[in-house]
Amino acid sequence: MRFLFVGDVYGKTGRQMIQTYLPRLKSKYRPSLTIVNGENAAGGRGITEEIYKFLMTQGADVITMGNHTWDNKAIFEFIEDAKRMVRPANFPEETPGNGIVYVNFNGQEVAVINLQGRVFLPAIDCPFKKADALIEEARKRTPILFVDFHAEATSEKLAMGWYLDGRVSAVVGTHTHVPTADERVLPDGTAYVTDVGMTGPYNGIIGVNRDTIINRFITAMPTRFESEAGPGQLAAVIIDVNPETGKATKIQRKLINDDHPFDE
Ligand code: FE2
Repeated sequence: MRFLFVGDVYGKTGRQMIQTYLPRLKSKYRPSLTIVNGENAAGGRGITEEIYKFLMTQGADVITMGNHTWDNKAIFEFIEDAKRMVRPANFPEETPGNGIVYVNFNGQEVAVINLQGRVFLPAIDCPFKKADALIEEARKRTPILFVDFHAEATSEKLAMGWYLDGRVSAVVGTHTHVPTADERVLPDGTAYVTDVGMTGPYNGIIGVNRDTIINRFITAMPTRFESEAGPGQLAAVIIDVNPETGKATKIQRKLINDDHPFDE
């Protein structure tokens, strides 16, 4: 069983990269399941129903979210009906939406979990304890569990990878928009990468117009974020999992941009 996971889709450029490359990636790598982080898909903040449906039409099976889940108020109109959307499971109990979804591939059930870190991000419930509870529930149904850990600090993400090693098939990090080169299969069979990276403007600063961000660092004045123009990038990982045991056997990074052209 093979997963294709695409990192944080950012704004229009990110959506264009999905439209151009997701079908090509899928025909080259033939994933069983495609998961896309869509928390920045609407202008860099949140997601709309139209964009959720667009990502599904382009080939995503599940959309994961993060700290920007509620930033576009359109989310409240459709999240309860969006059966293939997962928002961080460690948001407070009464929060709309689901932190875990189950999908079927060829009669095999797969659990997709989204968690959010607490270092340099809002104080929410403990992602480690929430992971324990969800894993206990999910493993009664399937050995194949996929975790998107949306977090800022590399240490918190590494801690989650090691904490879940052997209990889930994969822990992929999202949120920083900068891919890390530490992809590996941990000793007990969990595929891990600290951050998959962003699918969005290649020449911005984590997707945002670079002059705005540079100016903000220099002046310390608040600024309005706009997406950077110009070419895009797509960042992804491909993970192979033994469907009987749920253990990962391989993880590969894929980066597509002007400096790393897609190789058919
Ligand atoms: Fe984020």
